[in-house]
Amino acid sequence: MTQSFTVAIDGPAAAGKGTISKAVAAHFGFAHLDTGLLYRAVGRRTLDGVDAIEAAQALTAEELELGDLRTAEIAQAASKVAVIPEVRAALVDFQRAFARRAGGAVLDGRDIGTVICPHAEVKLFVTASPEVRAERRFLELLAKGAEVTRAQVLADVRERDARDADRSTAPMKPAEDAVLLDTSDLSIEEALGKAIALVTAQRPTGL
Ligand code: DC
Repeated sequence: MTQSFTVAIDGPAAAGKGTISKAVAAHFGFAHLDTGLLYRAVGRRTLDGVDAIEAAQALTAEELELGDLRTAEIAQAASKVAVIPEVRAALVDFQRAFARRAGGAVLDGRDIGTVICPHAEVKLFVTASPEVRAERRFLELLAKGAEVTRAQVLADVRERDARDADRSTAPMKPAEDAVLLDTSDLSIEEALGKAIALVTAQRPTGL
């Protein structure tokens, strides 16, 4: 299997893109990269006092596997380093190489369909209302034992949305040719069914 095939899945935090991306990759046997982890790993280094640009330039794949990167503190740090153009530039090659690997790849993030893989064969922009996303993230954090309130999580979601969408380099937005998937009123199964149908329709024979 030597053919590449890229599925770009973008959208704001807690819209369901991580769940959908993982499940799409598993369904088709494609590789999956959660690109938010790259920014989170850089953000975590800055919390230890390391310069963001240096951390991005020195980032290794092993760092993505170390410890829990999915905390609220690291999410905010990630969103802050993601504003820096040199940080984004340092992470481009790794993401593009991943996208073109043989056998198919799913990448999820904020700028995959617009900047990293503008020629991706499938582009999906997964969204949901801020309230629905905050409630999902709140339940996730509670399950992990975090001490947070609904109001705090909603404020965090709104703050991160604003920073991710308003930055001048690679802001979060749907590519012009992306299919929009609003998961506010959909179950996971329904959202996944739509994503799988879309990929099935574009998938080349033999992959
Ligand atoms: O998807 P996530 O919540 O793990 O992402 C964490 C932060 O990283 C997010 O607030 C913005 C940034 N990010 C980005 O700027 N571009 C991406 N492709 C992925 C994430």
